Amino acid sequence: MRENVVRENALRESAAPESKASRSGQKRHKSAKPNEPVPSAPPQPVVVAVPKGRVLEQLVPRLAAAGFDTDVLTKSTRQLIRTDEARNIQWLMLKPDDVPTYVEYGAADVGVVGRDVLLEREYDLYAPLDLGIGRCKLAVAAHRRAPYPPPPGALLRVATKFPNVATRHFKSRGIAVEMIFVQGSVELAPLTGLADVIVDIVETGETLRQNGLEVVEDICEVSSVVVANRVGLKLKRAAIAPLLEALAKDV
Ligand code: PRP
Repeated sequence: MRENVVRENALRESAAPESKASRSGQKRHKSAKPNEPVPSAPPQPVVVAVPKGRVLEQLVPRLAAAGFDTDVLTKSTRQLIRTDEARNIQWLMLKPDDVPTYVEYGAADVGVVGRDVLLEREYDLYAPLDLGIGRCKLAVAAHRRAPYPPPPGALLRVATKFPNVATRHFKSRGIAVEMIFVQGSVELAPLTGLADVIVDIVETGETLRQNGLEVVEDICEVSSVVVANRVGLKLKRAAIAPLLEALAKDV
């Protein structure tokens, strides 16, 4: 299909009448006089991938305190690229799990992401700064009356969005598991018999409490970090530095 479109455009161009300039072999634009300064291209914007939701709410006060225009980030619109022209920044509004992918592939120069996402999948990224926001933990949780740890030799069914983190954890504990991948509302799994336990993010603990579950084992603390594309950081270091400085300041 794409090939057709390209071919069609090529046909249209070849069918178009030749302009005077192209007929005479002249360039379309006047060339600069020898001593006239050639206007330079405007600097490339710094592209920053931010996670929509809870972490963004904690990020905004830091950026505001450092003088960034946060209205572009908080305004109620479905635009996924928000531009701060004064600072030459483009903000990409992303699902938290997608932030490292955009940065790794260079679609964004830097991003803000929870360490939980980095623990679950491997990325080739530079992580220069822990922001100390979005603090929570990864934990094993179960129904209040469920036996944990399971009796020796029993197979534990685990529902989680973090199968790699969970597999590593139970392996280190010597517990045999059946891993069941779910995307969200993980707390439902033990309530419906889908799984014995869950491995999930616990922040306030409210979701567990309201669903009759409790933490039976902590796995690790997590918080949000800045990640940077290795090449982007080298090429745009001067433009990225003030942003990193602003993010580093606790407010
Ligand atoms: C996360 C996590 C828990 C909840 C924990 O879910 O998966 O469900 O937050 O927070 P709490 O300890 O403060 O209650 P999220 O809100 O991202 O939605 P999800 O269930 O769709 O993953």
